[in-house]
Amino acid sequence: MCRIITTNWSSQESKSYFPPRLSSPSIAASVKLSANGFFLKFMNPQVYYLLHITGGLLVFLSYGLLIARSWLSDDNRSLRKFGGLMAGIGLFLILLGGFGLLARVYQNQWYPWVILKLVIWVILGGLIALINRKPGLSKVWYWVTLFLGLTAAWAAYFKPGM
Ligand code: HEM
Repeated sequence: MCRIITTNWSSQESKSYFPPRLSSPSIAASVKLSANGFFLKFMNPQVYYLLHITGGLLVFLSYGLLIARSWLSDDNRSLRKFGGLMAGIGLFLILLGGFGLLARVYQNQWYPWVILKLVIWVILGGLIALINRKPGLSKVWYWVTLFLGLTAAWAAYFKPGM
């Protein structure tokens, strides 16, 4: 003998049975949820610190290479390409590590020192064009690159505005 089970669930019951995401997910909300989920679940802060510092080392090593190339007015194209590529990877890793730390350690709080670092990152990104196109000012680019790096590190350790 088969028993027919009829249920007349109130909307509250159906909501508790069906996970809330089925009730009213906005696409943006679920993308945000999964992005945050990825940051939180798969990468811990130590990995972000390592990515961040690796990015910084790559950027300053490559800028040194490109400044030396310009200073010597050497038209070595493969050196320019290699330096540009490594600097690009470095800038990306700085950002990946930085945003990961921002999400994991600072709950995406945009403190003034974080905004300062992002401004420095943008200036650093633009500086590569000047290093390649204005070789006569190589010495200036050397000190500017050092100054930007030191200011970013200072912002990380002294956290102005926090
Ligand atoms: C522009 C080049 C940058 C350099 C040279 C730089 C350098 C550093 C250094 C040296 C640290 C300290 C690491 C440690 O204590 O082990 C640090 C930490 C950090 N950086 Fe950057 N950074 C840069 C850009 C950025 C950007 C663009 C962001 C944000 C998107 C960012 C976010 C952070 C955060 C959140 C921390 C962790 C601070 C802490 O936990 O005390 N950084 N950065």
